[in-house]
Amino acid sequence: MINKVKGTYDVLPNELGKWYFLEQKIKEITKKYHYYELRTPIMEYSNVFHRETELSDMVTKETYNFVDKGNRDVTLRPEGTAGIIRSYVENKLYVASDLLKVYYVGPMFRYERPQKGRYRQFNQFGLEAIGSKSSLLDAELIKLSNDFIESLGLENVTIQINSIGDSESRTNYLNALVSYLTPFYEELSNDSKERFKNNPLRILDSKDLNDQKIIENAPKPIDYLSSYSKKYLDDVLKYLEIFNVKYNLNNKLVRGLDYYSEVVFEVLADIKGLGNGNVLGGGGRYENLVSELGGPQTSAIGIAFGIERLLLAIEHQEIVKEEVSEIDSFIITFSENEKLYGAKIFNLLRDKGFNVDIEFNNKNFKQQLKKALAKNSKTLIIIGENELKNETVTLKNTKTEIQTEIKLKDLITNLEKEIK
Ligand code: HAM
Repeated sequence: MINKVKGTYDVLPNELGKWYFLEQKIKEITKKYHYYELRTPIMEYSNVFHRETELSDMVTKETYNFVDKGNRDVTLRPEGTAGIIRSYVENKLYVASDLLKVYYVGPMFRYERPQKGRYRQFNQFGLEAIGSKSSLLDAELIKLSNDFIESLGLENVTIQINSIGDSESRTNYLNALVSYLTPFYEELSNDSKERFKNNPLRILDSKDLNDQKIIENAPKPIDYLSSYSKKYLDDVLKYLEIFNVKYNLNNKLVRGLDYYSEVVFEVLADIKGLGNGNVLGGGGRYENLVSELGGPQTSAIGIAFGIERLLLAIEHQEIVKEEVSEIDSFIITFSENEKLYGAKIFNLLRDKGFNVDIEFNNKNFKQQLKKALAKNSKTLIIIGENELKNETVTLKNTKTEIQTEIKLKDLITNLEKEIK
Protein backbone atom coordinates (compact mmCIF):
# COMPACT_ATOMS: atom_id res chain seq x y z
CA MET A 1 0.00 0.00 0.00
CA ILE A 2 1.26 3.49 -0.80
CA ASN A 3 0.37 6.11 1.78
CA LYS A 4 -0.53 9.76 1.21
CA VAL A 5 2.32 12.26 1.49
CA LYS A 6 2.97 13.28 5.11
CA GLY A 7 0.97 16.37 6.06
CA THR A 8 -1.68 15.85 3.34
CA TYR A 9 -5.14 14.27 3.65
CA ASP A 10 -8.02 12.96 1.56
CA VAL A 11 -11.52 14.39 1.73
CA LEU A 12 -13.85 11.41 1.47
CA PRO A 13 -17.28 11.80 -0.20
CA ASN A 14 -19.17 11.68 3.11
CA GLU A 15 -17.02 14.53 4.52
CA LEU A 16 -17.80 17.02 1.78
CA GLY A 17 -21.02 18.47 3.25
CA LYS A 18 -19.18 21.04 5.34
CA TRP A 19 -16.87 21.98 2.45
CA TYR A 20 -19.90 22.77 0.28
CA PHE A 21 -21.40 24.78 3.15
CA LEU A 22 -18.19 26.81 3.47
CA GLU A 23 -17.87 27.31 -0.29
CA GLN A 24 -21.43 28.63 -0.40
CA LYS A 25 -20.70 31.12 2.41
CA ILE A 26 -17.55 32.27 0.57
CA LYS A 27 -19.61 32.93 -2.57
CA GLU A 28 -22.17 34.92 -0.56
CA ILE A 29 -19.73 37.08 1.39
CA THR A 30 -17.54 37.92 -1.62
CA LYS A 31 -20.61 38.89 -3.64
CA LYS A 32 -21.88 41.11 -0.84
CA TYR A 33 -18.54 42.96 -0.56
CA HIS A 34 -17.74 43.04 -4.31
CA TYR A 35 -14.65 40.87 -4.31
CA TYR A 36 -14.16 39.00 -7.62
CA GLU A 37 -12.40 35.67 -8.02
CA LEU A 38 -8.89 35.58 -9.47
CA ARG A 39 -7.34 32.16 -10.09
CA THR A 40 -3.57 31.95 -10.28
CA PRO A 41 -1.35 28.86 -10.70
CA ILE A 42 -0.25 26.86 -7.69
CA MET A 43 3.33 27.04 -8.96
CA GLU A 44 5.17 30.26 -9.62
CA TYR A 45 8.76 31.12 -10.45
CA SER A 46 10.58 31.05 -7.13
CA ASN A 47 11.43 34.75 -7.13
CA VAL A 48 7.72 35.58 -6.73
CA PHE A 49 8.09 34.36 -3.12
CA HIS A 50 11.84 34.38 -2.55
CA ARG A 51 12.49 38.10 -2.49
CA GLU A 52 15.32 39.94 -0.76
CA THR A 53 12.91 41.56 1.67
CA GLU A 54 11.10 38.35 2.63
CA LEU A 55 13.13 36.55 5.29
CA SER A 56 10.26 34.88 7.14
CA ASP A 57 10.66 31.21 8.12
CA MET A 58 7.71 30.40 5.92
CA VAL A 59 9.46 31.55 2.78
CA THR A 60 13.09 30.78 3.63
CA LYS A 61 12.59 27.38 5.28
CA GLU A 62 9.21 25.93 4.43
CA THR A 63 8.67 26.26 0.69
CA TYR A 64 8.60 23.34 -1.74
CA ASN A 65 11.11 24.34 -4.42
CA PHE A 66 12.25 22.48 -7.50
CA VAL A 67 14.14 23.04 -10.71
CA ASP A 68 12.05 22.16 -13.76
CA LYS A 69 13.36 20.44 -16.89
CA GLY A 70 14.07 23.83 -18.46
CA ASN A 71 16.32 24.62 -15.48
CA ARG A 72 13.90 27.18 -14.04
CA ASP A 73 13.45 27.60 -10.28
CA VAL A 74 9.85 26.94 -9.40
CA THR A 75 8.04 27.07 -6.02
CA LEU A 76 4.70 25.62 -4.96
CA ARG A 77 2.90 28.63 -3.51
CA PRO A 78 3.09 28.79 0.30
CA GLU A 79 0.50 31.61 0.32
CA GLY A 80 -1.73 33.38 -2.15
CA THR A 81 -0.84 37.06 -1.93
CA ALA A 82 2.45 37.13 -3.87
CA GLY A 83 0.96 35.17 -6.81
CA ILE A 84 -2.05 37.48 -6.92
CA ILE A 85 0.24 40.51 -7.02
CA ARG A 86 2.40 38.87 -9.72
CA SER A 87 -0.79 38.47 -11.77
CA TYR A 88 -1.93 42.04 -10.99
CA VAL A 89 1.37 43.40 -12.30
CA GLU A 90 1.73 41.02 -15.26
CA ASN A 91 -1.84 41.65 -16.47
CA LYS A 92 -1.61 45.40 -15.69
CA LEU A 93 -4.85 45.14 -13.75
CA TYR A 94 -4.17 48.61 -12.33
CA VAL A 95 -4.96 50.18 -15.69
CA ALA A 96 -8.68 49.41 -15.70
CA SER A 97 -9.45 50.61 -12.20
CA ASP A 98 -7.75 52.32 -9.26
CA LEU A 99 -8.91 49.63 -6.82
CA LEU A 100 -9.06 45.90 -7.50
CA LYS A 101 -10.82 43.65 -4.99
CA VAL A 102 -10.14 39.97 -5.59
CA TYR A 103 -10.46 36.67 -3.74
CA TYR A 104 -9.06 33.18 -4.20
CA VAL A 105 -9.61 29.72 -2.81
CA GLY A 106 -7.12 26.93 -3.23
CA PRO A 107 -4.25 24.79 -1.99
CA MET A 108 -1.05 26.19 -0.47
CA PHE A 109 2.08 24.23 0.45
CA ARG A 110 4.36 24.66 3.46
CA TYR A 111 6.88 22.17 4.79
CA GLU A 112 5.79 22.52 8.43
CA ARG A 113 5.57 20.01 11.26
CA PRO A 114 2.09 18.53 10.71
CA GLN A 115 -0.39 18.53 13.59
CA LYS A 116 -4.09 19.17 14.07
CA GLY A 117 -4.95 22.27 12.04
CA ARG A 118 -1.50 22.39 10.45
CA TYR A 119 -0.81 20.57 7.18
CA ARG A 120 1.77 20.61 4.43
CA GLN A 121 -0.92 21.01 1.81
CA PHE A 122 -3.79 23.13 3.08
CA ASN A 123 -6.35 25.50 1.57
CA GLN A 124 -6.83 29.19 1.98
CA PHE A 125 -9.69 31.55 1.25
CA GLY A 126 -7.91 34.85 0.72
CA LEU A 127 -8.96 38.38 -0.21
CA GLU A 128 -6.82 41.23 -1.51
CA ALA A 129 -7.87 44.86 -2.08
CA ILE A 130 -5.14 46.42 -4.21
CA GLY A 131 -4.73 50.08 -5.12
CA SER A 132 -5.89 52.19 -2.24
CA LYS A 133 -4.54 53.26 1.12
CA SER A 134 -7.73 54.06 2.94
CA SER A 135 -8.50 53.35 6.58
CA LEU A 136 -12.12 52.83 5.48
CA LEU A 137 -10.98 49.99 3.22
CA ASP A 138 -9.04 48.37 6.10
CA ALA A 139 -12.12 48.60 8.27
CA GLU A 140 -14.32 47.22 5.50
CA LEU A 141 -12.10 44.13 5.17
CA ILE A 142 -12.14 43.55 8.92
CA LYS A 143 -15.91 43.96 8.92
CA LEU A 144 -16.14 41.46 6.04
CA SER A 145 -14.06 39.00 8.10
CA ASN A 146 -16.36 39.51 11.06
CA ASP A 147 -19.50 39.02 8.91
CA PHE A 148 -17.99 35.91 7.34
CA ILE A 149 -17.31 34.30 10.73
CA GLU A 150 -20.85 35.21 11.86
CA SER A 151 -22.35 33.77 8.68
CA LEU A 152 -20.68 30.45 9.51
CA GLY A 153 -22.34 30.49 12.91
CA LEU A 154 -19.01 30.41 14.76
CA GLU A 155 -18.96 31.70 18.32
CA ASN A 156 -16.12 32.76 20.64
CA VAL A 157 -14.08 34.15 17.78
CA THR A 158 -12.27 37.45 18.29
CA ILE A 159 -10.58 39.86 15.95
CA GLN A 160 -7.12 40.86 17.10
CA ILE A 161 -5.70 44.10 15.74
CA ASN A 162 -2.32 45.76 15.98
CA SER A 163 -0.32 48.31 14.08
CA ILE A 164 3.32 47.74 13.27
CA GLY A 165 3.39 51.19 11.68
CA ASP A 166 5.14 52.64 8.67
CA SER A 167 8.84 52.07 8.03
CA GLU A 168 9.84 54.99 10.30
CA SER A 169 7.80 53.53 13.18
CA ARG A 170 9.22 50.06 12.58
CA THR A 171 12.84 51.25 12.57
CA ASN A 172 12.30 53.14 15.83
CA TYR A 173 10.56 50.21 17.40
CA LEU A 174 13.15 47.67 16.26
CA ASN A 175 15.94 49.74 17.78
CA ALA A 176 14.07 49.91 21.08
CA LEU A 177 13.27 46.20 21.02
CA VAL A 178 16.85 45.15 20.24
CA SER A 179 18.22 47.40 23.04
CA TYR A 180 15.70 45.86 25.44
CA LEU A 181 16.42 42.25 24.39
CA THR A 182 20.23 42.47 24.18
CA PRO A 183 20.83 41.90 27.93
CA PHE A 184 18.46 38.89 27.79
CA TYR A 185 20.04 37.33 24.68
CA GLU A 186 21.59 34.34 26.47
CA GLU A 187 18.26 33.52 28.18
CA LEU A 188 16.27 33.45 24.94
CA SER A 189 15.18 30.14 23.39
CA ASN A 190 17.27 28.91 20.47
CA ASP A 191 14.52 29.88 18.02
CA SER A 192 14.38 33.37 19.42
CA LYS A 193 18.18 33.70 19.33
CA GLU A 194 17.89 33.02 15.61
CA ARG A 195 15.02 35.53 15.28
CA PHE A 196 17.10 38.08 17.19
CA LYS A 197 19.51 38.03 14.25
CA ASN A 198 16.99 37.86 11.38
CA ASN A 199 13.75 39.39 12.55
CA PRO A 200 13.55 40.40 16.24
CA LEU A 201 9.91 41.42 15.81
CA ARG A 202 8.96 37.75 15.62
CA ILE A 203 10.25 37.14 19.15
CA LEU A 204 7.03 38.84 20.30
CA ASP A 205 5.22 35.87 18.78
CA SER A 206 7.30 33.23 20.63
CA LYS A 207 5.39 30.37 22.26
CA ASP A 208 8.31 29.63 24.62
CA LEU A 209 7.26 30.37 28.22
CA ASN A 210 10.57 31.90 29.26
CA ASP A 211 10.64 34.07 26.11
CA GLN A 212 7.12 35.19 26.96
CA LYS A 213 8.24 36.26 30.43
CA ILE A 214 11.05 38.33 28.93
CA ILE A 215 8.70 39.86 26.37
CA GLU A 216 6.16 40.81 29.04
CA ASN A 217 8.04 44.04 29.78
CA ALA A 218 9.37 44.68 26.29
CA PRO A 219 8.54 47.96 24.56
CA LYS A 220 5.25 47.83 22.62
CA PRO A 221 5.06 48.64 18.89
CA ILE A 222 2.08 50.89 19.50
CA ASP A 223 4.19 53.27 21.62
CA TYR A 224 6.60 53.78 18.72
CA LEU A 225 4.11 54.59 16.00
CA SER A 226 4.78 57.73 13.99
CA SER A 227 2.02 60.31 14.23
CA TYR A 228 0.88 59.26 10.74
CA SER A 229 0.63 55.57 11.68
CA LYS A 230 -1.04 56.37 14.99
CA LYS A 231 -3.71 58.41 13.22
CA TYR A 232 -4.12 55.70 10.58
CA LEU A 233 -4.79 53.06 13.25
CA ASP A 234 -7.17 55.38 15.13
CA ASP A 235 -9.11 56.02 11.92
CA VAL A 236 -9.47 52.29 11.26
CA LEU A 237 -10.74 51.78 14.81
CA LYS A 238 -13.23 54.65 14.43
CA TYR A 239 -14.68 53.05 11.32
CA LEU A 240 -14.85 49.69 13.09
CA GLU A 241 -16.94 51.31 15.78
CA ILE A 242 -19.29 52.71 13.12
CA PHE A 243 -19.48 49.19 11.65
CA ASN A 244 -20.19 47.72 15.11
CA VAL A 245 -17.23 45.36 14.95
CA LYS A 246 -15.81 44.20 18.26
CA TYR A 247 -12.02 43.86 18.34
CA ASN A 248 -9.10 43.39 20.72
CA LEU A 249 -6.12 45.66 20.42
CA ASN A 250 -3.31 43.14 20.79
CA ASN A 251 0.09 44.78 20.89
CA LYS A 252 1.91 41.46 20.75
CA LEU A 253 0.43 40.61 17.39
CA VAL A 254 3.07 40.30 14.69
CA ARG A 255 2.54 38.39 11.49
CA GLY A 256 4.58 35.52 10.03
CA LEU A 257 5.42 37.32 6.80
CA ASP A 258 7.68 40.32 6.32
CA TYR A 259 5.69 42.32 3.78
CA TYR A 260 3.33 43.98 6.26
CA SER A 261 3.16 47.56 7.45
CA GLU A 262 0.58 49.61 9.35
CA VAL A 263 -2.49 47.67 10.44
CA VAL A 264 -2.29 43.88 10.91
CA PHE A 265 -4.98 41.54 12.24
CA GLU A 266 -5.86 37.97 13.04
CA VAL A 267 -9.11 36.09 13.53
CA LEU A 268 -8.76 33.95 16.61
CA ALA A 269 -10.95 31.06 17.79
CA ASP A 270 -10.87 29.62 21.29
CA ILE A 271 -10.91 25.86 20.91
CA LYS A 272 -9.14 23.89 23.64
CA GLY A 273 -6.19 21.81 22.49
CA LEU A 274 -5.93 23.49 19.12
CA GLY A 275 -3.09 25.88 20.06
CA ASN A 276 -1.94 27.80 17.01
CA GLY A 277 -4.67 26.10 15.03
CA ASN A 278 -6.98 28.65 16.64
CA VAL A 279 -5.66 31.28 14.26
CA LEU A 280 -8.42 30.99 11.68
CA GLY A 281 -7.11 33.79 9.50
CA GLY A 282 -4.66 36.64 9.35
CA GLY A 283 -3.70 39.58 7.21
CA GLY A 284 -2.84 43.22 7.07
CA ARG A 285 -1.72 46.09 4.89
CA TYR A 286 1.30 45.83 2.62
CA GLU A 287 2.84 48.70 0.74
CA ASN A 288 5.78 47.46 -1.30
CA LEU A 289 4.86 44.09 -2.74
CA VAL A 290 3.42 45.50 -5.98
CA SER A 291 6.50 47.59 -6.66
CA GLU A 292 8.87 44.78 -5.66
CA LEU A 293 7.18 42.56 -8.22
CA GLY A 294 7.68 45.16 -10.94
CA GLY A 295 4.49 47.23 -10.72
CA PRO A 296 3.86 50.84 -9.71
CA GLN A 297 4.12 51.84 -6.05
CA THR A 298 0.73 50.62 -4.79
CA SER A 299 -0.70 50.06 -1.36
CA ALA A 300 -2.86 46.99 -0.70
CA ILE A 301 -4.50 45.08 2.10
CA GLY A 302 -5.58 41.48 2.44
CA ILE A 303 -6.41 38.56 4.65
CA ALA A 304 -6.40 34.78 4.24
CA PHE A 305 -8.41 32.22 6.19
CA GLY A 306 -7.25 28.64 6.64
CA ILE A 307 -10.09 26.51 5.30
CA GLU A 308 -9.17 23.42 7.34
CA ARG A 309 -9.14 25.49 10.53
CA LEU A 310 -12.55 26.97 9.72
CA LEU A 311 -13.78 23.42 9.14
CA LEU A 312 -12.33 22.27 12.46
CA ALA A 313 -14.14 25.11 14.21
CA ILE A 314 -17.37 24.31 12.35
CA GLU A 315 -16.99 20.65 13.36
CA HIS A 316 -16.17 21.56 16.94
CA GLN A 317 -19.38 23.56 17.25
CA GLU A 318 -21.33 20.94 15.30
CA ILE A 319 -22.70 23.56 12.94
CA VAL A 320 -23.15 21.45 9.83
CA LYS A 321 -24.99 18.20 10.16
CA GLU A 322 -23.96 15.68 7.53
CA GLU A 323 -26.75 15.54 4.97
CA VAL A 324 -28.54 12.22 4.63
CA SER A 325 -28.70 11.51 0.92
CA GLU A 326 -31.75 9.79 -0.51
CA ILE A 327 -32.71 8.39 -3.87
CA ASP A 328 -36.15 8.04 -5.45
CA SER A 329 -35.91 4.44 -6.53
CA PHE A 330 -33.60 1.45 -6.83
CA ILE A 331 -34.24 -0.96 -9.69
CA ILE A 332 -33.88 -4.62 -8.77
CA THR A 333 -33.48 -7.22 -11.53
CA PHE A 334 -32.40 -10.86 -11.61
CA SER A 335 -31.67 -12.25 -15.11
CA GLU A 336 -29.88 -10.68 -18.09
CA ASN A 337 -33.19 -10.05 -19.88
CA GLU A 338 -34.67 -8.38 -16.84
CA LYS A 339 -31.56 -6.21 -16.64
CA LEU A 340 -32.16 -5.04 -20.23
CA TYR A 341 -35.76 -4.16 -19.35
CA GLY A 342 -34.55 -2.54 -16.11
CA ALA A 343 -31.98 -0.48 -18.01
CA LYS A 344 -34.76 0.88 -20.25
CA ILE A 345 -36.74 1.99 -17.18
CA PHE A 346 -33.56 3.34 -15.52
CA ASN A 347 -32.91 5.49 -18.59
CA LEU A 348 -36.51 6.66 -18.88
CA LEU A 349 -36.74 7.70 -15.22
CA ARG A 350 -33.41 9.50 -15.25
CA ASP A 351 -34.44 11.43 -18.37
CA LYS A 352 -37.61 12.46 -16.54
CA GLY A 353 -35.50 13.84 -13.69
CA PHE A 354 -35.87 11.09 -11.08
CA ASN A 355 -32.88 10.20 -8.92
CA VAL A 356 -32.62 6.46 -9.54
CA ASP A 357 -30.02 3.73 -9.28
CA ILE A 358 -29.68 0.14 -10.46
CA GLU A 359 -27.55 -2.89 -9.59
CA PHE A 360 -24.49 -3.07 -11.84
CA ASN A 361 -23.02 -6.33 -10.55
CA ASN A 362 -24.85 -9.64 -10.37
CA LYS A 363 -26.34 -9.85 -6.87
CA ASN A 364 -29.18 -11.78 -5.31
CA PHE A 365 -32.38 -10.09 -4.09
CA LYS A 366 -31.22 -9.77 -0.49
CA GLN A 367 -27.96 -8.10 -1.47
CA GLN A 368 -29.74 -5.66 -3.83
CA LEU A 369 -32.30 -4.82 -1.16
CA LYS A 370 -29.51 -4.10 1.32
CA LYS A 371 -27.86 -1.74 -1.14
CA ALA A 372 -31.14 0.06 -1.86
CA LEU A 373 -31.75 0.59 1.85
CA ALA A 374 -28.18 1.81 2.39
CA LYS A 375 -28.85 4.45 -0.25
CA ASN A 376 -32.08 5.43 1.55
CA SER A 377 -34.12 4.61 -1.52
CA LYS A 378 -37.74 5.71 -1.11
CA THR A 379 -39.02 2.98 -3.41
CA LEU A 380 -37.94 -0.23 -5.13
CA ILE A 381 -38.79 -1.11 -8.70
CA ILE A 382 -38.67 -4.89 -8.83
CA ILE A 383 -38.51 -6.67 -12.16
CA GLY A 384 -38.92 -10.45 -12.30
CA GLU A 385 -40.09 -12.93 -14.92
CA ASN A 386 -43.76 -11.91 -14.60
CA GLU A 387 -43.11 -8.20 -14.84
CA LEU A 388 -41.00 -8.75 -17.94
CA LYS A 389 -43.72 -10.87 -19.56
CA ASN A 390 -46.60 -8.51 -18.65
CA GLU A 391 -44.73 -5.21 -19.33
CA THR A 392 -45.31 -4.23 -15.71
CA VAL A 393 -43.13 -3.46 -12.69
CA THR A 394 -43.61 -4.08 -9.00
CA LEU A 395 -43.33 -0.77 -7.16
CA LYS A 396 -42.64 -1.04 -3.45
CA ASN A 397 -42.63 1.82 -0.96
CA THR A 398 -39.74 1.10 1.43
CA LYS A 399 -41.41 2.93 4.32
CA THR A 400 -44.96 1.54 4.17
CA GLU A 401 -43.71 -1.74 2.67
CA ILE A 402 -46.78 -1.74 0.42
CA GLN A 403 -46.10 -3.09 -3.04
CA THR A 404 -48.23 -3.15 -6.19
CA GLU A 405 -47.75 -4.44 -9.67
CA ILE A 406 -48.45 -1.65 -12.15
CA LYS A 407 -48.38 -1.18 -15.91
CA LEU A 408 -45.15 0.35 -17.17
CA LYS A 409 -47.09 3.28 -18.69
CA ASP A 410 -48.43 4.14 -15.21
CA LEU A 411 -45.01 4.02 -13.51
CA ILE A 412 -44.22 7.71 -13.58
CA THR A 413 -47.51 8.88 -12.02
CA ASN A 414 -47.32 6.17 -9.38
CA LEU A 415 -43.68 6.84 -8.58
CA GLU A 416 -44.40 10.56 -8.21
CA LYS A 417 -47.11 9.74 -5.67
CA GLU A 418 -44.91 7.38 -3.68
CA ILE A 419 -41.89 9.70 -3.35
CA LYS A 420 -43.84 12.80 -2.37
P1 HAM B 1 -0.76 33.39 7.02
O1 HAM B 1 -1.03 33.91 8.37
O2 HAM B 1 0.57 32.81 6.75
O3 HAM B 1 -1.05 34.60 6.03
O4 HAM B 1 -1.86 32.32 6.64
C1 HAM B 1 -3.24 32.63 6.71
C2 HAM B 1 -3.99 31.49 7.35
O5 HAM B 1 -3.72 30.26 6.67
C3 HAM B 1 -3.60 31.19 8.79
O6 HAM B 1 -4.25 32.09 9.66
C4 HAM B 1 -4.09 29.79 8.96
O7 HAM B 1 -5.47 29.77 9.25
C5 HAM B 1 -3.86 29.19 7.59
N1 HAM B 1 -2.63 28.36 7.58
C6 HAM B 1 -1.37 28.78 7.50
N2 HAM B 1 -0.50 27.75 7.50
C7 HAM B 1 -1.26 26.63 7.60
C8 HAM B 1 -0.97 25.22 7.64
N3 HAM B 1 0.27 24.75 7.57
N4 HAM B 1 -2.01 24.36 7.77
C9 HAM B 1 -3.29 24.82 7.83
N5 HAM B 1 -3.62 26.13 7.77
C10 HAM B 1 -2.62 27.03 7.66
C11 HAM B 1 -0.95 34.52 4.68
O8 HAM B 1 -0.82 33.49 4.05
C12 HAM B 1 -1.11 35.84 3.99
N6 HAM B 1 -0.96 35.62 2.55
C13 HAM B 1 -2.44 36.48 4.34
C14 HAM B 1 -2.63 37.79 3.66
C15 HAM B 1 -3.38 38.02 2.59
N7 HAM B 1 -2.02 38.91 3.98
C16 HAM B 1 -2.38 39.84 3.14
N8 HAM B 1 -3.17 39.31 2.26
